[in-house]
Amino acid sequence: MKICVLPGDGIGPEIIDQTLRVLEAMRGDGVNFEAEVALVGGAAVDATGTPLPEATVKLADEADALLLGAVGGPKWDSYPRDQRPEPGLLGIRKQLQLFANLRPAILYPELANASSLKPEIVAGLDILIVRELTGDIYFGQPRGIREENGERVGFNTMIYSESEIRRIGKVAFEAARKRDKKLCSVDKMNVLETTQLWRDVMIELSADYPDVELTHMLVDNAAMQLVRAPKQFDVMVTGNMFGDILSDEASMLTGSIGMLPSASLNAEGKGMYEPSHGSAPDIAGKNLANPLATMLSAAMMLRYSFNLEDQAARIESAVKKVLAAGYRTGDIYEPGTRRVGTKEMADAVIAAL
Ligand code: IPM
Ligand code: MG
Repeated sequence: MKICVLPGDGIGPEIIDQTLRVLEAMRGDGVNFEAEVALVGGAAVDATGTPLPEATVKLADEADALLLGAVGGPKWDSYPRDQRPEPGLLGIRKQLQLFANLRPAILYPELANASSLKPEIVAGLDILIVRELTGDIYFGQPRGIREENGERVGFNTMIYSESEIRRIGKVAFEAARKRDKKLCSVDKMNVLETTQLWRDVMIELSADYPDVELTHMLVDNAAMQLVRAPKQFDVMVTGNMFGDILSDEASMLTGSIGMLPSASLNAEGKGMYEPSHGSAPDIAGKNLANPLATMLSAAMMLRYSFNLEDQAARIESAVKKVLAAGYRTGDIYEPGTRRVGTKEMADAVIAAL
């Protein structure tokens, strides 16, 4: 297995280092890999002047899977747009056509108190957000800031073709089929034509999935329902921008965004795996970051890209064990538990393995 490792910025390098230690600990147990490290994001801007150097694209193309830390930080906020970290990440997604972003939000019983919602509202929560990742207003043209009548005007284009909607819809229906067979498609069809088409295509597609119950929700209502009664959802499917926002919201229901992994897959099953959280520059380099989301992302990598279900499940149960044993990084700490750093959390996971 050839893994392209992209540590990125902020806490990225430290959570990736600790996750590689976990994978190392599984070497010989079917987990045999070559890891090649490449630059992306602000780290790449600093070293090469661009957030997605050619060498990185080449390694990404050659790899079977990619493992990413996080990109971004205030340092690059004032740089010209093409020299900011985020276009590096968006560039890889587009380059590899990683259109299907799977973001599970699962509540670990031990963390029920870390949620900002009452334990009874979130107990047993298990939602999968399927976010389209290579289209929508993120990539639509035209876009920019121009002068008009003596003032600046900013503009972006929300756009989806029916084939783009259909392929992400299929991923979502298939995922729902393997779970509780409930799919909620999120749009804003009362205002936006693009999402009227989204809803129409989802309804057409549902004819092929009579065993899955399809419902629709406007995005503002969905944002509200997620904090009112999140357990009504099984799988949610939505476009790039709504998915960005709703997946952050869903992650917080589980107590900490520091726990949630994600997979971004293309049509050939190649994937990039990354925690759902960002680069947390305020705690970078201090051994404070929660590495569990990255380890759980590596588990998703073993499952989806390498078909190693048992090994993926071993990482996941090791994570459950360390939580049950009381190990907590700062983001999920509560009195009575044992506060540990990034590295000590990895030590505990490796011991549990
Ligand atoms: C995410 C992030 C990215 C996005 C940023 C870093 C470009 O927020 O993966 O959710 O908006 O997609
Ligand atoms: Mg986001």
